[in-house]
Amino acid sequence: MYRWCRLAGRVALITGAAGGLGECTAKLFAAHGAKVVIADINGELGQVVSKVIGSANSRYVHCDVSKEEDVKNAIDTTVATYGKLDIIFNNVGIVDTIKASITDNNKSDFDRVLSVNVTGVFLGMKHAARVMVPRRSGSIISTSSIASEVGGAASHAYTCSKHAIVGLTKNLAVELGQFGIRVNCLSPYGMFTPMVASSGIDR
Ligand SMILES: NC(=O)c1ccc[n+]([C@@H]2O[C@H](COP(=O)([O-])OP(=O)(O)OC[C@H]3O[C@@H](n4cnc5c(N)ncnc54)[C@H](O)[C@@H]3O)[C@@H](O)[C@H]2O)c1
Repeated sequence: MYRWCRLAGRVALITGAAGGLGECTAKLFAAHGAKVVIADINGELGQVVSKVIGSANSRYVHCDVSKEEDVKNAIDTTVATYGKLDIIFNNVGIVDTIKASITDNNKSDFDRVLSVNVTGVFLGMKHAARVMVPRRSGSIISTSSIASEVGGAASHAYTCSKHAIVGLTKNLAVELGQFGIRVNCLSPYGMFTPMVASSGIDR
């Protein structure tokens, strides 16, 4: 436990918390006193992360962020377990292979990346707002990328998905500010996580 528990009494749901940046965030939030819900498609690793954090302060929920019923269930399970939702971290993001030419790109790859990276964030925002607005409190954080600022750093699908997250964040901040709900996103540079390792990008 950190000396200053900045999240004592807070409840956070983190998508993609079974690995990579989400796992690190889950552990950091818990170390700062938060109750953490690990929402991921990887149940095996998600349970391990929860065990490391401790079952008194965390739980795993199966959630494919591209499926509305899964996202709704993850939010409702959080509220049922811990009584409220203070923070949602829409962290999940996937990559597709960078192709030399746009003519080599398949619509199916494009749709797959957008359904997770954009629709997944939209659904997390929507269902978090559903429970945060009545309480007039909350923080919605999503993960964009350096690819939202710089061209040529990633595939077309990934790049436009990360631009979309910035747009969604700005739009929702205007809507939810009146309820005291903060809406922000982060745009990290490269970090060596399982996603980067699987993309074949050299460290
Ligand atoms: N690693 C980097 O260099 C970097 C840089 C900029 C932005 N980002 C962004 O940070 C976020 C986290 O990246 P990471 O590198 O930790 O990724 P990662 O691949 O290492 O981990 C992602 C986690 O998301 C889970 N996941 C994948 N699809 C899912 C789905 N449909 N529903 C629920 N869970 C799902 C995986 O099981 C995994 O636990 C992503 O949004 C990514 O785009 C990463």
